[in-house]
Amino acid sequence: MKSPIRVAITGAAGQIGYSLLFRIASGGLFGPDQPVALNLIEIAPAMDALKGVVMELDDCAFPLVTEIIATADLNEGFRDANWALLVGSVPRKAGMERGDLLGINGKIFVEQGRAIEKNAAEDIRVLVVGNPCNTNCLIAMNSAKSIPSDRWFAMTRLDENRAKAQIAQKVGVPVSKVTNLAIWGNHSATQYPDIYNAKVDGEIASNKVNDEAWVKDDFIPTVQQRGAAIIKARGASSAASAANAAIDTVASMFFPTKEGDWTSVGVCSDGSYGIEKGLICSMPIRSNGKGWEVVQGLELNTFSQEKINASVEELMAEREMVKDLL
Ligand code: NAD
Ligand code: LMR
Repeated sequence: MKSPIRVAITGAAGQIGYSLLFRIASGGLFGPDQPVALNLIEIAPAMDALKGVVMELDDCAFPLVTEIIATADLNEGFRDANWALLVGSVPRKAGMERGDLLGINGKIFVEQGRAIEKNAAEDIRVLVVGNPCNTNCLIAMNSAKSIPSDRWFAMTRLDENRAKAQIAQKVGVPVSKVTNLAIWGNHSATQYPDIYNAKVDGEIASNKVNDEAWVKDDFIPTVQQRGAAIIKARGASSAASAANAAIDTVASMFFPTKEGDWTSVGVCSDGSYGIEKGLICSMPIRSNGKGWEVVQGLELNTFSQEKINASVEELMAEREMVKDLL
């Protein structure tokens, strides 16, 4: 029997939490022979709702679950965690940009970063989902300076998955044929999905699509605005697809990346591609199951470079807005 992986999840009684927990508990993340312990973290007013979620988890009798802790205490919640999924925070409403949440959500991540540093396991890795996730991740990372910067991630996998789905539908192929899709920059309306390096069945996706107007006037804005479109349609922000992307992200770190492919996640920039060091910026990475590296040497045309620069500038502006928290 393998020893359990302890996963701490904030906002566990929220929408995303409800779609996420049961998949982790059933083995849908780390695999069917990997036990998991769940540390579920909520704010005090949501503890009753969390109790109900725990009752449902109990009622699933998941054989892989070794322990469930439900708490509003951050020290208890992050104790011995190997993975921390920071979901808990306020989602935006129609008409808002994700960056508008910085004033409400930013400070949550100071306290959480400190509690992670104090309590988590030596090998802790942290995925920030709560928006604006890049800058919240920057805040948490800077509140836990003894934890290496390569352990901090902000979720842009939902954008990658959205972009792949758009390309697959346009070309008329199963989504599994679309690979090497890099999301660059901020998880915001400035993010840049790079179709010029993506592939469909091994061929450059922009060539396969062969419709520059569609790329610029449809594909890119659709991916950039997909979160807002879902809020408009559902009256609430994406939840099941966000939970799915969180599973995909952690799995992409836990298992090695397929030969020749890459995935997208916000990581602490080491200066690759001229992106300012220390920003949490989405870029293409490859994992060997233990560590990860930025995919080097991708060619970026002038259009791509301008789009990436704009998103990086937005990240720098967000960093300036929260400089008192860093
Ligand atoms: P939700 O309101 O349904 O749930 C959020 C939960 O977090 C609530 O139960 C709330 O009590 C809890 N919470 C609030 N502050 C907390 C704190 N300090 N500590 C612990 N728990 C806390 O929201 P949701 O739909 O689950 O979305 C959560 C976040 O994820 C939002 O910020 C949303 O914008 C973001 N999100 C990000 C992505 C992405 O791709 N990065 C995708 C979808 C949603
Ligand atoms: C998304 O991309 O669906 C989330 O970030 C939620 C949002 O506010 O758009």
